[in-house]
Amino acid sequence: MTWFDSAADAGKRLADAGYLADQATATTTFLAGALEKPLLVEGPAGVGKTELAKAIARATGAELVRLQCYEGLDEARALYEWNYKKQLLFIQAAEVTSKESEERAEPQRDWATDIFTEEFLLTRPLLTAIRRAEPTVLLIDEVDKTDVEVEGLLLEVLSDFQVTIPELGTMAAVRRPLVVLTSNATRELSEAVRRRCLYLHIDYPDADREHAIVTSQVPDIEDTLVRQIVETVARLRALELRKSPSIAESVDWARTLVSLGTGTLDAATIDATLGVVLKHSSDLDRAVRELRLRQG
Ligand SMILES: Nc1ncnc2c1ncn2[C@@H]1O[C@H](COP(=O)(O)OP(=O)(O)OP(=O)(O)O)[C@@H](O)[C@H]1O
Ligand SMILES: [Mg+2]
Repeated sequence: MTWFDSAADAGKRLADAGYLADQATATTTFLAGALEKPLLVEGPAGVGKTELAKAIARATGAELVRLQCYEGLDEARALYEWNYKKQLLFIQAAEVTSKESEERAEPQRDWATDIFTEEFLLTRPLLTAIRRAEPTVLLIDEVDKTDVEVEGLLLEVLSDFQVTIPELGTMAAVRRPLVVLTSNATRELSEAVRRRCLYLHIDYPDADREHAIVTSQVPDIEDTLVRQIVETVARLRALELRKSPSIAESVDWARTLVSLGTGTLDAATIDATLGVVLKHSSDLDRAVRELRLRQG
């Protein structure tokens, strides 16, 4: 399957799916599909890394399979595990049957070989994505949160698109999923992972794109109000706070102001609603001080 015909096609279809991509994002997305290479997306919180994977799935009609990474994630949660409970029940039932056949002096069956079959396999996101015959976007979200061992596992899967289960053999991808890995860079990923991926850094959008994103998600908002929000958020980002406001916060702020029936973003309104945008008291204090200073 061709995922996208060109960079322009990727940009357009992502936009139709509600994701406004810049040139670099559209181009890299197109290439990830065309070259069948995993796409590693890095950038600050809330700039649309996870949403990009979801939008690719919506735009192409593919199913999204998501592996959410966290500290302590292991193979059993990422790849597959055996359904021990079901195996145990099966063995208990088998014991009863085998006692009966023993009494009748019938030949014994080796039950152990019966419990390591498909029926007892619990597939987790990586294996699920590899085995799907239909178009699939595999989102490996927040990969920097996992331990290094899981990276080794990912490498194996991302280089061969196959998984070996000792009891069942090797399962190769019927159809390669489009893989998107996201990271906030809280930990450096290994060179080996980077080498296998196309790389995309997403940063805060420029004013025009943020304006368009806010307008698309909050359609009944006044244009001047959007401009004020985008300008104020840009100034807040320049303050290098503990947690800079992301696109999600701009959108939340827009929704808040619309539901309050506010037409303009004056000092009093900022004061009353800044908690929608900033989530640390030190950030709030600083922002109130600096914004007031500049407004005179
Ligand atoms: N280009 C975009 N077009 C439309 N909406 C966007 C875009 N980028 C971000 N958004 C909006 O911002 C929200 C936050 O994006 P997302 O959850 O993808 O951020 P993230 O980069 O994955 O953040 P985190 O690092 O915290 O996981 C999305 O739900 C979406 O509404
Ligand atoms: Mg995310």
